[in-house]
Amino acid sequence: MKGIVFTEFLEMVEDKFGLETLDYIITNSELESEGSYTAVGTYDFFEMQQLLTHLSEVSKIPVNDLIYTYGLFFFKTLTTHHSDIFNYYTSPLDLVASIENHIHVQVRKIYPDAELPSFTVKKENDHELSLLYSSERAMFMFAKALMEKTFEYYKENVEIKYELMNEQGTQVKFLIKSYGPN
Ligand code: HEM
Repeated sequence: MKGIVFTEFLEMVEDKFGLETLDYIITNSELESEGSYTAVGTYDFFEMQQLLTHLSEVSKIPVNDLIYTYGLFFFKTLTTHHSDIFNYYTSPLDLVASIENHIHVQVRKIYPDAELPSFTVKKENDHELSLLYSSERAMFMFAKALMEKTFEYYKENVEIKYELMNEQGTQVKFLIKSYGPN
């Protein structure tokens, strides 16, 4: 997992839960990195899992809710560092439909060691997409948050439904329905 995902995560924890909680989760996790990350480095996903588990214990918030909150927070990093992508697309539904074949393809060029999910995208009609998320990291709530934020960015209304295909959430089916400008 890329360092930027860790550095932004720790920033969110500090912002929303405070320095004491940040210290607590780092101290209680067994981190090869010792909790010092650089944005350009690459670290084991297991470190993120431990940080999330401890944050969930101390905050009493379920891990998936924390991942969702993190996705909402992370979106600004995408629009700041990759504004070209948001300038290129004029419709949020088109952007979401292109994650697999365009966006994450570009991401892989910039970060060859990125661990990305795979999406099977199907256009149901002009305003509906179905999408199958697959990743052993089970970060489907991160995907949901990024998609919601994408629609918000383009000032369009959306309804995003999802269904877990297995208990772990490594395969999740999404249905994205666009309601146009708000
Ligand atoms: C990772 C979804 C757009 C860059 C991820 C992950 C998800 C995801 C769910 C977590 C990894 C996993 O689940 O296995 C999406 C969705 C997008 C989107 C739904 C659009 C709405 C973008 C854009 C960029 C980007 C625009 C930047 C150009 C990355 C990076 C990672 C990532 C750098 C981390 C890879 C790693 O940790 O090794 N994406 N993404 N994504 N995505 Fe995207």
